[in-house]
Amino acid sequence: MPADDLRAHLEFFGELGVDGVRREREWRARANGEAASAVAPPDTLPAIRADLGDCVRCKLHGLGRRQIVFGVGNPHAELMFVGEAPGADEDLQGEPFVGRAGQLLTKIIGAIGLTREDVYIANVIKCRPPGNRNPEPDEVEQCEPFLFRQIDTIKPRVIVALGKFAAQSLLRTTEPITRLRGREYTYRDAILMPTYHPAYLLRAPSAKREVWEDMKRVREILQGE
Ligand code: URA
Repeated sequence: MPADDLRAHLEFFGELGVDGVRREREWRARANGEAASAVAPPDTLPAIRADLGDCVRCKLHGLGRRQIVFGVGNPHAELMFVGEAPGADEDLQGEPFVGRAGQLLTKIIGAIGLTREDVYIANVIKCRPPGNRNPEPDEVEQCEPFLFRQIDTIKPRVIVALGKFAAQSLLRTTEPITRLRGREYTYRDAILMPTYHPAYLLRAPSAKREVWEDMKRVREILQGE
């Protein structure tokens, strides 16, 4: 198109109130009437990790985090566990649930005949809050979209939310974990089951019975029952 025509064209759209144009493939495809999904490459875990980069989106990057704890396990897992946030051990090793609570989680996974390599494990937020305090709303807000992308990429059949914080945060509720657990929720094409956090089980071993009930139900769902 000649430059003068292009200028007139853009001026016309400017008068209509259009204040910019996008040149990305998806937008051009949309303008041509194609579905964006026809050209947008599918998301992948490495792409999500790359987008996180050396994240400084929230204040946790400056509050002593050593590294981002992205998530670990099978990128095609049918079962995904979501905890709260990395603790000191996870911050050191760069992997979720590797401390004492993590060792208990590994046993819980083993109790239904699976290994850590079969499942995917992540947290609501990816950086350690100082002193293991709860994540704050602005931190969750910045970080959660990356967890959502992980979930949508992995497409697990079942998500187990570990503990009050993860369950309340994912389900956008303030109901206590005692009421949330034992129920199944539809969540981003998966079934979400809240259960007690393994760190709580270390303090209250009698609650292991309920977690075992929850895990048996997870096994049933995965077996298609
Ligand atoms: N607690 C969590 O919620 N996540 C971890 O990764 C470790 C402990």
